[in-house]
Amino acid sequence: MILALETSCDDTSVAIVDLDGRVRILLSANQDLFHRPFGGIVPEVASRQHTENLLPLVDGALVQSGLGWDALTGIAVTSRPGLIGSLLVGVVTAKALALAKDLPFIGVNHIEAHLLAPLLRDSTYEPPKEFDFPYLGLAVSGGHTHLFLCERPGCYRLLGRTLDDAAGEALDKFAKMIGLGFPGGAEVDRWAVGGDPTAFAFPRAMMDDEGNLDFSFSGLKTAALRILDGGVNRERQRADLCASFQEAVVDALVTKLVRAARVTGLKNWTVTGGVSANSRLRARASEAVRDHGGVLALPPLRFYTDNAAMVGMAGLHRLRAGETSRQDLAPSASSRADDWI
Ligand code: KG4
Ligand code: ZN
Repeated sequence: MILALETSCDDTSVAIVDLDGRVRILLSANQDLFHRPFGGIVPEVASRQHTENLLPLVDGALVQSGLGWDALTGIAVTSRPGLIGSLLVGVVTAKALALAKDLPFIGVNHIEAHLLAPLLRDSTYEPPKEFDFPYLGLAVSGGHTHLFLCERPGCYRLLGRTLDDAAGEALDKFAKMIGLGFPGGAEVDRWAVGGDPTAFAFPRAMMDDEGNLDFSFSGLKTAALRILDGGVNRERQRADLCASFQEAVVDALVTKLVRAARVTGLKNWTVTGGVSANSRLRARASEAVRDHGGVLALPPLRFYTDNAAMVGMAGLHRLRAGETSRQDLAPSASSRADDWI
């Protein structure tokens, strides 16, 4: 059974996961309220909140699960990529707890954790029966848009990634432009329901080359500015604007997912990360996987947004393989290119 900590961005989260990937407890503290007045995540505020929240969540997880320290065999913590101040809080705490309790600890890659989220289980979710390695994993959130071939635990091949903004970042920036709150991805989703996705022409980047599996969303921002400056009524046409913008993002994501499935021949797919909450993305990906004769694992919200259970799942595989981190492990804001293998 391992204790897992996640503090890479603006969610503080603690979980205990057992050797079967079953989540015994998952507790998180969301910081949206503290960042909303600034219209974006303020790194300094995030680290400060993690410092306040993390140890009480660890205590809470042990008390509420009824598990003691002696039930634990290791500690996992996100050590990369993310906001450096936020990562530091988690990593330093994990090191201190590991020393104090004489437990091994392991620093894990946050993106790897997202990719393994569909394999978690609890009282109301378990992965689809047919779902297993190798699978295609699209990790899509406010900070990342990465498409991977997940061969087996610890072995991931990066097939494509965004060259500029993450999909969630693009949605959040657009939401801000048209006067929706922060983070605005979910609001865009809500407004898009009543809108016409063909009302406005937003560009789809890098779609012509069949071999291209990368993404680019920064052109969408420029297009949005041009459309908004052209005299569009933001309030009256909000639904059409949202539907059109969202369709451009989802089109790019699903096109590359389908393309990757064709190239690799993989039938098992997963979409994870905050943007996988998007109703249009879920519908389009489900439709595409059905056409492809495959299985799409969509983990529930508590596992696909930033959370410590997925970190526990990544740590579990690493610790099981005999990997541990040393006390001089330093967190890193970015991932090295060879870090996925
Ligand atoms: O995984 P997450 O909670 O945190 C990280 O960024 O790592 O993802 C947050 C992102 C934000 O950009 C948010 O706007 C987006 O996920 N998001 C959505 C939806 N719900 C959250 N984007 C589109 N549609 C949604 N329903
Ligand atoms: Zn994330």
